[in-house]
Amino acid sequence: MAMESAPPGVDPTVPSAARMYDLALGGKNYFKVDKEFAEKASRGMPELPDLAKSNRACLIRAVTHFAKDLGIRRYLDLGSGLPTEKNVHEVARRVHPDARTVYVDVDPTTRIHALSILDGDPYTAFIQADATKPETILEHPDTQALLSAGEPIAVLLFAIVHFMPDSAQPRAAIQRFLDAVPAGSVLAISSATIDGIHPKLERRFSDMYRDVPSRLVLRPEEEIMDLFCGLPIVGGELAEVGAWGLPQEEAAEAPWLRMVFGYAIKK
Ligand SMILES: C[S@@+](CC[C@H](N)C(=O)[O-])C[C@H]1O[C@@H](n2cnc3c(N)ncnc32)[C@H](O)[C@@H]1O
Repeated sequence: MAMESAPPGVDPTVPSAARMYDLALGGKNYFKVDKEFAEKASRGMPELPDLAKSNRACLIRAVTHFAKDLGIRRYLDLGSGLPTEKNVHEVARRVHPDARTVYVDVDPTTRIHALSILDGDPYTAFIQADATKPETILEHPDTQALLSAGEPIAVLLFAIVHFMPDSAQPRAAIQRFLDAVPAGSVLAISSATIDGIHPKLERRFSDMYRDVPSRLVLRPEEEIMDLFCGLPIVGGELAEVGAWGLPQEEAAEAPWLRMVFGYAIKK
């Protein structure tokens, strides 16, 4: 059931990428306009909800790996979306009960829901900010308080860079985050890619997001790899989100609409 009233600062007549993603994941934080838009999208691309679920599952596997195998206890989740099941702080805390997480999203709907879930939790914070403007986030008192103890940080950019146009200089922003974090920190990126999809679908996908504040930018894998700012990707290449971190026989078959994932470690 769609939400009926909009909290202050939220326009219920404009579809939101955050709320549509929540809808795809089976959440309830969406308006009629999001559902109509998502239905239009699924008619052309029935795999969209599955892709959202694969991406989310990849995020959970990646955070578990960073916490368990790399010992990471600090998380900066850029473009965190609406709180859903198994949020980053919950996944990290299963391994490190004292893990700290700072969530960042530009969408006001995410702020309202994040605050209701995280309120009073001393180990987590939510900052409503644009991830292409790193200084606002790095200088924020909550980032300073939770993430600046000199410990490695996992900087997570899951399903967000494809909403950042080149004009917003995403690479420069990511470089700024990398400059600010200590050695041993992790940069993790998942993104939709233009490689391997039909040109007609590419056009349809881009048109679909034309009226949404976060417009979709489908990049080739090479450009996504460039967003790692020269750090070598662990394993040498990007993987399908449905396959990363899974044994071959369990990996979901690659959908025609592709999302890829990789991570790198700062030396
Ligand atoms: C598809 S959701 C991904 C949520 C979560 N990261 C995941 O992968 O499960 C993308 C989110 O990125 C946010 N977003 C898009 N551009 C952004 C920007 N420049 N700064 C911060 N958040 C942004 C959207 O509001 C949305 O909530």
